[in-house]
Amino acid sequence: MSMVVVSTVSNMSEYDRSVDGIRYPWATTDEILEAMKTFEVREDDVWLISYRKSGTTWATEIITVLSCGCDFTKRDETNPLEHTCFLDLLKPNMTEFAHVTATKKPSPRIIMGTHFQSRHMPRELITKKPKIVYVARNPKDVAVSLYYFHKSNKLLKTFKTWNECFQAFYDGDLVGGSWFDMNLYWWNRRNDDNVLFVKYEDMKEDLPSAIVKISEFLGWPVPEGKLEEVVKHCSFGSMKNNKKQHWYTESGLFDSSMSPFMRKGLVGDWKNYFTVSQNEAFDKLYEEKMKGSGLKFRYKL
Ligand code: A3P
Repeated sequence: MSMVVVSTVSNMSEYDRSVDGIRYPWATTDEILEAMKTFEVREDDVWLISYRKSGTTWATEIITVLSCGCDFTKRDETNPLEHTCFLDLLKPNMTEFAHVTATKKPSPRIIMGTHFQSRHMPRELITKKPKIVYVARNPKDVAVSLYYFHKSNKLLKTFKTWNECFQAFYDGDLVGGSWFDMNLYWWNRRNDDNVLFVKYEDMKEDLPSAIVKISEFLGWPVPEGKLEEVVKHCSFGSMKNNKKQHWYTESGLFDSSMSPFMRKGLVGDWKNYFTVSQNEAFDKLYEEKMKGSGLKFRYKL
């Protein structure tokens, strides 16, 4: 397909719309949602899937470094945007849809950063068996991270107050849909041979083990003696300061003066935002929605 132009904020009367009960930004066009029904998944693909603000960029960096054999020079020459397909977004200045580009890529493809709810993800993600890394983060920190993300992301509506953000997240009435639905779906698939369910809090607590786990799952081993360097490279401070890794700023979607993309990277920042009653209501909702699932998160380390 030839030139495609995504709507810009200035010509959008609304920032998002509801499709089958799930909110999507206009950049997740109807064409993209339609294409996912027949998008060809390859058995040797590597997919990184997550609910927004759960550590996608962090896991992207880890997977990118591993895919380069932990060779940092090679990593610096790799722009994750080139293999990070963001299948769910038509970004400004894109000349073709990411799913069209993806079909032309040689195998093995690395397809990162997709945030579709199960009903809109590529249907072949159920029938084919690519390697899927799913990153999950405790919902309270996700909610706070989203609050700031909506301030800086030009495609998203800024929440006027934290309370407004909390309510939208509580109701699942925000872009990307319900945190509960998406995490429950992938948690229920955690024992599939081709799925690795990784928690942000575990990465935070013990990054070396998380990196080794991901590398073993993908079959991309960390060379002898290199683990410490990979851990350092993927630490929050290093990722925040290493401009070569800031591929997301190149996307033109963010105004970092509103909030930096690499904001705090903590477990437990939610305590600075949730009121006592919000916390109680949220815990109750979590119990209702996740009852019997066995999925638990840590809210502080
Ligand atoms: P905060 O807003 O809480 O700081 P995503 O990439 O899915 O959009 O998630 C972004 C969140 O992951 C942000 O959280 C960001 O700071 C955090 N993050 C990114 N890289 C990280 C790292 N190396 N260590 C810890 N947190 C990281």
